[in-house]
Formats: sequence, C-alpha cells, structure tokens
Amino acid sequence: MATVQNRTSYWERAKEQGFDLSWLSQLEESVTGKDVDEVSRNDTGRVEGSIPRNNVPRFGAYTFRTKSEVWAHNLTKLYHEFVTRQWSSATDIPWDTIQELPDDVEAAQCQLATFFAQVEFVASDVPGRFISSMSPDYHEVRLALLAQVMDESRHLDVFRKRALANGGGLMRMIDTVSDVVGGSTDNAREFTELSSRLHITGEGNVLTLFRLGELMAYNEAEKAIYRRCAQDEARHVAIGVLHLRYMNEFAPDRREEIHGYLDEGEARQATGAGGENPAGVNTLTSEALAVLLGGGKDKVEEGQKILMAIRQRQVKEYFQRLKSAGFDDRIHNGRVNPALLETYQAAA
Ligand SMILES: [Fe+2]
Ligand SMILES: [Fe+2]
Repeated sequence: MATVQNRTSYWERAKEQGFDLSWLSQLEESVTGKDVDEVSRNDTGRVEGSIPRNNVPRFGAYTFRTKSEVWAHNLTKLYHEFVTRQWSSATDIPWDTIQELPDDVEAAQCQLATFFAQVEFVASDVPGRFISSMSPDYHEVRLALLAQVMDESRHLDVFRKRALANGGGLMRMIDTVSDVVGGSTDNAREFTELSSRLHITGEGNVLTLFRLGELMAYNEAEKAIYRRCAQDEARHVAIGVLHLRYMNEFAPDRREEIHGYLDEGEARQATGAGGENPAGVNTLTSEALAVLLGGGKDKVEEGQKILMAIRQRQVKEYFQRLKSAGFDDRIHNGRVNPALLETYQAAA
C-alpha cells in the first residue's frame, strides 16, 4: 500500500504522462515584472496602454485601482501555464477503470466528492467577484483569476461526475463549511484578505491532499482526477504566494494586517473549524478520508494514522508557503499557531 512517504512511483508515472511542476521553481527563480502605474486612473474599461478618448462615460468606478492591492510579479507566466494545462473531465479521465467498490468505500469516495463539488464552486465564485472590480490596467491579475475560475469549474464538474459515476451518487451537503460558504472566505471584501484565506490557507490544504491522491484513490480514474486537480491547485496557490511576496516587498505597512489573516487561517486549520480543510479534525470529510485511507469502515484506525501524516504534510507545505512569501518570521517569533507548530515538530 502507498504511504505518505512513498509516492515516488505515483509521480514517476504522472511525469511519463506529461505532468510537471517544474514551472513552480521557475516562478521562484526569475522574478520579473513589467511597469504598471501604482495608481490606475482608468475608469472607462480602456485596454491598458491604449489611447484614451475623452467622450467616454466613467462607468468603471473600480474598487481596486492601486497596484499594491492586487499585484503579483510573474502572473503572465503563470497565466500561460494555466492555458497550456487545461484538460477535460469528459476525455482525460479513464472513467472505464472504475469498478464496483464495497459500499462503505464508495460512500466515502462520494462524500468526499460531494465536499469538493461544493467548495470548488466557492473557489470559482468568490475570486470571480473580484475580477470585474479591478482596474483593467491590472489585466494580468484578472487573467490569472479568470483562469482559476475555469479550473474550478472543471473541478466542480469532475467531482460531481465521480459522485455519479459508480452508483453512489451525491451524498450529504457539507454543513460545516461555514467559513467557506457565507463565511470569512466568502465575505472577504479585500483582495489580499481573499487571497490569504483562499489561496494560502484553504487551497493550500486541499493541494496537499490532492498531491497525496494516490492514497485515497481506488482506480486509475480517481488517481487521474487527483493528479490533474493537484496541478491546477498548485497554480491557484501560486497566485496567493506571488501576491503575498509582492505585498511583503512593496507594501510592508500591510504585513501586520496579513499576519492577522494568517492567524485566523491557522486557527481554522488547527481546529478543523469552518470545515474547509477536508482533512480537518472531526469533520464529515475526515471520517470519509479515514475509511478511504484505511481501506474500509473496519480499518479506520489505520486510516486515522495516515490522516495524521497528511495533516503533518499540510503544515509542512504551509510553512514552505510562508517562507516563500516572506512571512515565515511568524514561525520563529512565537506567533504561529502553537498546535500547528507542534504538528510540524512531531513530524520532524
Ligand atoms: Fe479547485
Ligand atoms: Fe483551487
């Protein structure tokens, strides 16, 4: 059986099929940025760089019109990555590899798929609200978010298809995602607030889980779903890391505010509150995961052990994101959530 530590063959097979995350290090290595105005006076929908006309109504009134509210370097490169990595739930998933599963395993897989269908909708819906409220001068940010919306639509679609593909069907609506649907992520009014909560914390945790998809997959179709979604999710997380990195360097006066968002995200990650982390403690999804990881309802104890290792991996990858964005001072100065630090140290 695959373990959290032993996933080499999974990714080797993925690479043979063209999966590649090397672009993530390219984003780190070559930080480039073109010059756009610090404050945008464009409120007519004019294409950035084009010649203005004076007889156009000022209908834009964009909420976000300063660079330090939305910007990140390298978003154009990231956008091209988005475009070249699109796939189809209809043609790129080997659905015919799904065989009949024991009822408890099928039910758990369908419960997890129901969760993802629900949260993937939020992950497209919420960033979507910000796109039309940004000045067109910052079109690279808009393009990256538009591409995220397309990815999330596909995720919603593929998990819905999985729930319906093998006789299980859609299971219980997740009632604990109060911090996602109608909660703090959903209610974010500010882009950095949204990005910290969604890209860094929420999607970061989901990314770790997708990367470990082989552990909870029972056929090649499910493995393909998790691999494809992991690659997409890495780009969404990259939007957040690149934005926070920009903020750290060019808007240091907002660092304390950002640390406040991270305090809140960490508390949710540590306690499972809000239900946005499918591997969170005592949630409907973590029960389903324990069944899938252990191999059945009678093996949930084994499943819980693997789940613990997954939580440790989530914290490790979160700390790596903090470091990459320049906010890892909180790990060393006592601000980081103590429960997360304990989990991290227990894994070391
Ligand atoms: Fe997603
Ligand atoms: Fe996402």
